[in-house]
Amino acid sequence: MAVRRFDLEAGGDTFAFKPETEPTIAFWLAKYPEDKKRSAVIPLLWLAQKDNAGWLSEPAMREVADRLEMPYIRVYEVATFYTMFRMQPVGKHHIQLCGTTPCMLRGANDLKDVCQSKIGDKMSVTDDGRLSWEEVECLGACVNAPMVQINDYYYEDLTPEKFADILGKLQNGVEVKPGTFVDRQLSGPQGGLTSLTSTDLFDGSRNAIKALPNAAAAPAGDAPKKPAPAKKTLIKKDEPTAAAGEKPAAITVQAGEEDDLKRIKGIGPVNEKALNALGIFKFDQIATWTPENIDWIEDSMSFPGRIEREDWISQAVTLASGDETDFSKRVDAGEVESSKDEGDD
Ligand code: FES
Repeated sequence: MAVRRFDLEAGGDTFAFKPETEPTIAFWLAKYPEDKKRSAVIPLLWLAQKDNAGWLSEPAMREVADRLEMPYIRVYEVATFYTMFRMQPVGKHHIQLCGTTPCMLRGANDLKDVCQSKIGDKMSVTDDGRLSWEEVECLGACVNAPMVQINDYYYEDLTPEKFADILGKLQNGVEVKPGTFVDRQLSGPQGGLTSLTSTDLFDGSRNAIKALPNAAAAPAGDAPKKPAPAKKTLIKKDEPTAAAGEKPAAITVQAGEEDDLKRIKGIGPVNEKALNALGIFKFDQIATWTPENIDWIEDSMSFPGRIEREDWISQAVTLASGDETDFSKRVDAGEVESSKDEGDD
């Protein structure tokens, strides 16, 4: 194991969490009893690293120790053990290059050469402060080898040329979309799917848990907040329903007047058809759904909590105003396979 030393000089004397991080700290602390709050040491170190430009200074570790009422040495031990915590300054874009066997067999050494020539030695930072790199062990994306992680995102199926291009763009302040750099969907076959091509396998419409097998019955008198979603089935057109909440107003539209609801992240072709069958065709309908309407739709379509989780309403507000979201731009560019209708290219 490599020796991991603190950079005392670069770390200065003080560290403070950003005010906007405090709610997240409170969230993690709330998970543990007061006398066990040191269990939050890893998430707090992670937040401290984020607030300290991607690395942990000694004052940052002390701040975490003070908050958790831990001896400083205990926090130092954790921080120096886990290589996800960095002990010296990094660039604005820090590259973690996987050098483990599958990535190595698929060309990771060539990517290392790119890092060496464009950035310099491991853990050095470019003069403009934009790039730094290190080699790490398997990042769990071997099927997309060779790959790197840049800050929080994976860049996969790389060649030296593509990787050099990514680094050049980042150095010039140009954002680069993460993901695969060959023609494949996630880790699917290159060139497109050859089996399991049904779009509802990928649009999230199968995600709702309808019932947990062998779930214990609720204690008597413990009334559920909502009717059990397991009893509902996907609504069919013209079928009467007893869903909770209030059914949103339905409209009819002429062919071609409907909005492409698949531009909302979370709505694929299957859900779009189901919504159309309920008389939902326009973004401005979804934008004005009340909490009762949301309950009704979620109950009817058997996906509790999903509309809020995927933030359909604010996406619909944006799209109804004529603006775009990052996701709708990708749909419009044909980059989202799961938003294409069957038969689309
Ligand atoms: S070997 Fe590189 S991600 Fe697993």
